Amino acid sequence: MVLGDDVVHADLLAVDGTIAAIGSAIDPPLGCAVLDVGGCIVLPGVIDPHVHFGWPGAADDFATGSLAAACGGVTSVLEFAVQFPGTDLSESVDEWLALGRASHVDFGLHAVVSDATPNTLAQLDALIARGVTSFKMFMTSQHSGGLGINDATMLAIMRRLAVAGGLAMAHCENGILVDALSEQLLDEGGRGPLGHLHSRPPFVEAEAVSRAIALASAAGCSFYLPHLSSAMGLEVVEAVRCRGQAVVAETCPQFLALTSDVYEQDDAANFVMSPPIKSADDQARLWHGLLSGAISTVGSDHCPYPSSTRHANGLDDFRRIPNGVPGTETLLPVLFTLGVRSGLITLADMACIVSTNPAEIFGLGHRKGSLTPGHDADITVLDPEGTTVPSADNLHSDIDYSLYDDRTLQGAVALTIVRGQIVAQGGQPRHTGRGQFLPREVSDISGFIRRSALSAAVSRQ
Ligand code: URP
Ligand code: ZN
Repeated sequence: MVLGDDVVHADLLAVDGTIAAIGSAIDPPLGCAVLDVGGCIVLPGVIDPHVHFGWPGAADDFATGSLAAACGGVTSVLEFAVQFPGTDLSESVDEWLALGRASHVDFGLHAVVSDATPNTLAQLDALIARGVTSFKMFMTSQHSGGLGINDATMLAIMRRLAVAGGLAMAHCENGILVDALSEQLLDEGGRGPLGHLHSRPPFVEAEAVSRAIALASAAGCSFYLPHLSSAMGLEVVEAVRCRGQAVVAETCPQFLALTSDVYEQDDAANFVMSPPIKSADDQARLWHGLLSGAISTVGSDHCPYPSSTRHANGLDDFRRIPNGVPGTETLLPVLFTLGVRSGLITLADMACIVSTNPAEIFGLGHRKGSLTPGHDADITVLDPEGTTVPSADNLHSDIDYSLYDDRTLQGAVALTIVRGQIVAQGGQPRHTGRGQFLPREVSDISGFIRRSALSAAVSRQ
């Protein structure tokens, strides 16, 4: 069992959905179901901080997406409620709360903000009070249904978040450059999916990361960088963290497992997401970022589309391939195989990356993210000797392909327990339909960075 930095043999008693005790040889109360998971690794429930189960047109809704999550050992997800241009931010959150009723795992909401009208800015405080405490802005333009906003709008939103205590997030790719490079590629005849990669080179991400962080610094708000994909972007994060800025970063399993060679394959369209998957050198640097603590979380950015839609839409204009890939069900086995089994990170590091860190960063640390008496009995049990064959047939997402069709991953999720209930066993659904909305607290990102730096220093001694 992974308890903070320690891996110990222990019993865990859960009563009424809450961890009641952890110790050796606990006597189960009368009538208590006993699960013997000898030989398995018991982790605090995995939190996927970045999924899209309500994205219009994408294949998974809350029912199928959260089922996939549960079967992959994920006990909580953070989903994005989207304010489409011209719509009301609070109403978008209400709409997503209603969609979340179909969730099989617990869920919190980030909100995507697409304007800085007085009405939207005035709603931010109320949303934070309702437990929606993180707000994403898109720096892209043509991508994602025109959600992109300009720097002045972003600064206005960030200033308000600084006062209200909200966490700013941004999709960091320079939209003007992406559009210009795309036009140029198409003019030169580069029409297929490889054009997606070339239209979004690393500097397009790094420039936007740098600008978003500069705006967050000017506004005085904390900043979470989702789906960091490049070494160049990581260098920006490392530099500002050295200066003490409250910035935390997330990368994705696909950036840690795959390289841009995928865009030269026949099925290249299946790997189109933004930002695109980068080079082997970028991948090595992202792993290093996880090790050094410059990257704190791994989110799947689960947002899949069937391969038929992707190929039909984009083979002679890569801009028309819908952006987004599957990933929540394979997040844990990918990290276990490529991180723990390959000796790059320890089990305790993995538990921190997939559970403790996202809980603390997103204001859930009081009830999620560690196996501690009083916390929710959210538990992920991984059989280290098992294997996961991540083909579309074995996975639960509502699509026809997987990013890892030709691989076998090490480790198999044996049990997923949400507030004491088994929601998946042996990678198959069990007692589903019990997900709850997670109102989140305002988080202290500077405190999180200080605590992680201290615990890294202690474990180095
Ligand atoms: O390509 C991606 N990542 N699609 C999902 C939406 C987003 O930009 O996060
Ligand atoms: Zn996303």
